[in-house]
Amino acid sequence: GLPERVEIYEVGPRDGLQNESNTVPVAVKAEFLERLANAGLRTIEASSFVHPKWVPQLADSEELVERMNWHDDVAYPFLVPNARGLDRAIEAGVRHAAVFASATETFAQRNLNRSLETQFEMFSQVVTRATENGMRVRAYVSMAFGEPWEGAVDPAQAASVGKRLMDMGCDELSLGDTIGVATPGHVGALLDACVAAGVPMESIAVHFHDTYGQALSNTLAALRHGVTTVDASAGGLGGCPFAGSATGNLATEDLVWMLDGLGIAHGVDLDALVATSVWMAGELGRPSPSRVVAALAPS
Ligand code: HMG
Ligand code: MG
Repeated sequence: GLPERVEIYEVGPRDGLQNESNTVPVAVKAEFLERLANAGLRTIEASSFVHPKWVPQLADSEELVERMNWHDDVAYPFLVPNARGLDRAIEAGVRHAAVFASATETFAQRNLNRSLETQFEMFSQVVTRATENGMRVRAYVSMAFGEPWEGAVDPAQAASVGKRLMDMGCDELSLGDTIGVATPGHVGALLDACVAAGVPMESIAVHFHDTYGQALSNTLAALRHGVTTVDASAGGLGGCPFAGSATGNLATEDLVWMLDGLGIAHGVDLDALVATSVWMAGELGRPSPSRVVAALAPS
């Protein structure tokens, strides 16, 4: 069966803008967040407290926190990799954090400057102190399906990384197909492996990049498997600067179009969302890669 309602976890301001070659002005970021909230999105990953030299595009998080209009009924998670990032997040008054582990050794080194094993020490400190401070913490497993240097990732390996993060006290686990290589059968296998490892289906989210055009098919497979939280990026922006082959995320518009067709509730105003992505495409100087945006707002 399919769920009656899906929670859309919007990642455009973070996953989208971290991968832009030009840094977007903070006023534009604040307006992007405001437009997304007004389009009905209720969880919007706003930015990152990562090292400013590693991701200069998101180095202005403190300023964004000052400038953005905080809606009471919207959760605004920020990526937090380590103790220093958590200090910054707490200082800024942020209530929702997200840690992001790697399922593979090579990507742990490239994305976190840590080994597969030592990343857990870093995250465990973050999760313990964040939850003590009353914050909610999401955990990502990046490269959960396949990886540019090591190839296909064993579902049991990705699931065990996820389980270790959940055991630290995270309340949600997002399975990241960072480079977009997953296919629907693999999605089912990983979800089964997570549940077998002891992660409840209700706490699992999926995070698909659309590099190989599989993001929507993978999402449908995940919904059929019992997932009810789906990550997506307005206009299909996104990618990871430390995983060269990654392209944009599943476009939120493409997700909304499918959910509407299936009669699944989501709370998002598609016209307002398309208008937001068209506006952002103008700011970025190139058209949105989303098929639904192109269909509904032909240029
Ligand atoms: P490091 O260089 O190993 O850090 O970076 P360190 O702990 O050795 O510290 C070195 C210096 O950096 C210290 O300063 C720290 O204070 C400072 P010093 O004492 O030498 O003067 N420092 C910081 N400053 C500000 N903010 C911080 C911070 N941390 C240290 N947070 C680190 C380690 C993890 C920080 C670095 O590797 C990093 O920032 N990585 C982030 C990479 C990233 O953001 N990648 C993209 C997001 S992941 C993604 O996109 C995938 C996802 O979408 C899911 C999917 O698609 O699958 C989530
Ligand atoms: Mg991503």
